Amino acid sequence: MSNRTYTDEELKSVLDGFGIRDVVSVGRYGSGHINDTFKADDARGVSYILQRINTDIFPDPDAMMDNISRVTGHIRSKGGRSLEVLGYSNPWRLYAFITGARTIDLIENSSQAFLAANAFAKFQNALADLPAPRLHEILPRFHDTVNRLRLLDEAAKADVKGRLASVSREMDFVNARREEAGRIVNAMASGEIPERITHNDTKINNVMLDDVTQEGVAVIDLDTTMPGSALYDFGDMVRTSTAAAAEDEKDLSKVFSRKEYFEALVKGYLKDAKFLNAAELDALAFSGRLITLTIGIRFLTDYLAGDTYFRTAYEDHNLVRCRTQLKMVASMEEQRGEYERIVRENAK
Ligand SMILES: Nc1ncnc2c1ncn2[C@@H]1O[C@H](COP(=O)(O)OP(=O)(O)O)[C@@H](O)[C@H]1O
Ligand SMILES: [Mg+2]
Repeated sequence: MSNRTYTDEELKSVLDGFGIRDVVSVGRYGSGHINDTFKADDARGVSYILQRINTDIFPDPDAMMDNISRVTGHIRSKGGRSLEVLGYSNPWRLYAFITGARTIDLIENSSQAFLAANAFAKFQNALADLPAPRLHEILPRFHDTVNRLRLLDEAAKADVKGRLASVSREMDFVNARREEAGRIVNAMASGEIPERITHNDTKINNVMLDDVTQEGVAVIDLDTTMPGSALYDFGDMVRTSTAAAAEDEKDLSKVFSRKEYFEALVKGYLKDAKFLNAAELDALAFSGRLITLTIGIRFLTDYLAGDTYFRTAYEDHNLVRCRTQLKMVASMEEQRGEYERIVRENAK
């Protein structure tokens, strides 16, 4: 989200361009961090989501909208609910408002973890037979941990802020895990793990939950939907949904991965992710550790590079975030036997 303010006139003129002329109200909506999101209502009582795409993060909105139109069209052609693009004119887009459902920002119980994981499994499943061509790669090498390590090494070498000496423990932690960083990219290169269509932002607030049944009715925020490993989506759910504390919690004793949430994610995901092969199932528990390590590496890299990518609120914010991620990795490693058992039992 940008800090820009938009006048009613400006927003109404964008809506006018999309053919929505009888607007009775329009204002900021939701708590997304990336785009500027507005809800608009017209005189007939029809609601819309108007969004200004964040072009700093997404330099090619045309490619993104091409992906989104194909993906949403495919899901809806099978009778599923999805976003519906009503208009697009770079950098603005208009979606139909999904009614009877809402998003939550913080996961409150393990049954929500089950429902969210199940919604993402259904999403991936529905896209398993999306006709060619391949989707555009919106953020190239986004989850390539080996490449992320290379970027960390470059930042450490440059050490532009003189911070390297203060992060030796974090560097040691990462260095001890270099070997496993390539496990998924290598298995994809050899074909053992297939390329699928992945969402890449599987946070709870990107699932619309039905107001009555609480079930996940639609997966939204499809900006980063692109080719990748299904494990990236599952791994990021483990990172975000099993965390007992916020991403920037300073008291590391509060930071750990909650087993009951992990179990709920596994059950919800495997209920509908029937397409997974043996190699993917084998790496499911590992994917949580890997994605969490990868984000930890990214926070550490940005800390060394002088906080140029992630928005920070104070001096060592990125280091604090890095530490929570590494603590999450350690917590998942401690529970590794249990987590792997949970996957095996539910994969039968
Ligand atoms: N089509 C829609 N119908 C209803 N609510 C929506 C719709 N699209 C987005 N929202 C709401 O707006 C919030 C932000 O939208 P999102 O696309 O996730 O933006 P960001 O990329 O900034 O996270 C969502 O969490 C959801 O609450
Ligand atoms: Mg979002």
